[in-house]
Amino acid sequence: MKKKLIAGNWKMNAGGADGMALCAEVCAGHKPQNQAQLLLCPPFTLLRELAQKLANTGIWLGAQDCHSAEGGAHTGDIAATMLCEAGCSHVILGHSERRGDHGESDALVSGKVSAALQAELIPILCIGEALQQRQSGAAEQVVGAQLAASLPEQIDPARLVIAYEPIWAIGTGMTASLDDIAAMHGFLRQELIRHLGAGGAQVPVLYGGSVKPENAAAILAIADVGGALIGGASLKSADFLAIARAAG
Ligand code: PGA
Repeated sequence: MKKKLIAGNWKMNAGGADGMALCAEVCAGHKPQNQAQLLLCPPFTLLRELAQKLANTGIWLGAQDCHSAEGGAHTGDIAATMLCEAGCSHVILGHSERRGDHGESDALVSGKVSAALQAELIPILCIGEALQQRQSGAAEQVVGAQLAASLPEQIDPARLVIAYEPIWAIGTGMTASLDDIAAMHGFLRQELIRHLGAGGAQVPVLYGGSVKPENAAAILAIADVGGALIGGASLKSADFLAIARAAG
C-alpha cells in the first residue's frame, strides 16, 4: 500500500531556532516503519539547514512557493531550481493564502507547476472552494475548474500531488464533513483520470483544513484521501506526529 503523505505547512512561522527545534522533535519522534511519509515545508530561510538535518531520516523537505521563471529580474522571488539546490523534493503551489494575499490566478499557478516540474520538484497543487461557493452548491464546479486551469498541458501524473483544501476550513477549526471530503475526493479522482488518463488514478490527493490528531484517523481512512496538508497542527511536534501515527 502506498504510504500516506503527511505534509507540514509551517507557513510564515518557525523560521529560526524555533523551527530547528521543531524539526529536531519531529525527527526524534518519527518512526520510519509508520504508514506515513513525512514532509516538512518550512519558510525559505530554513531550507538549507533543514535539508542537512533531514538527510538520512527519510523525511522529505518542501518549500511553500516558487516563481514560474527559471531566474532573472524578479525581486523577492525564488526559482524552482534554487529550491532543488537547497534540498527540496516538493513545493506547495497555489495555496489559497497565496491566491488571496498575492492575487495568484490559475494561469500563474499553472506556470509555477510547470517550473517546478522542469526543476524536477514535485508540485503540491492546492485547490479549494470558499464557504459561499460550498453553500451555494458550486463546490465541485469551482474546484474542478481550478484543477483544470491550474494543470499545465504536459504533466507526468507520477510527479504530481493535489491538495484539496476548502478555504473556509483552513485555520478555522472547522473541517469538511467526512461525507463531503469523500465526495470531493471521488470527484477529483474522476477529474484527474479525465485530464491525465489512467495515471490520474495514482495521483495522491491530500486533504487540508484544520486536520488535527482528533480527526485525522477518520479523514485519512477515506478512500482516495492520500494524506494531509497540515498547517496549525504541524507547528506542534506532538500533534504532527500523532497525525502521522493516525495514517497507519
Ligand atoms: P490548517 O492549515 O491545518 O491550519 O487549517 C492547512 C493549510 O493551510 O495547509
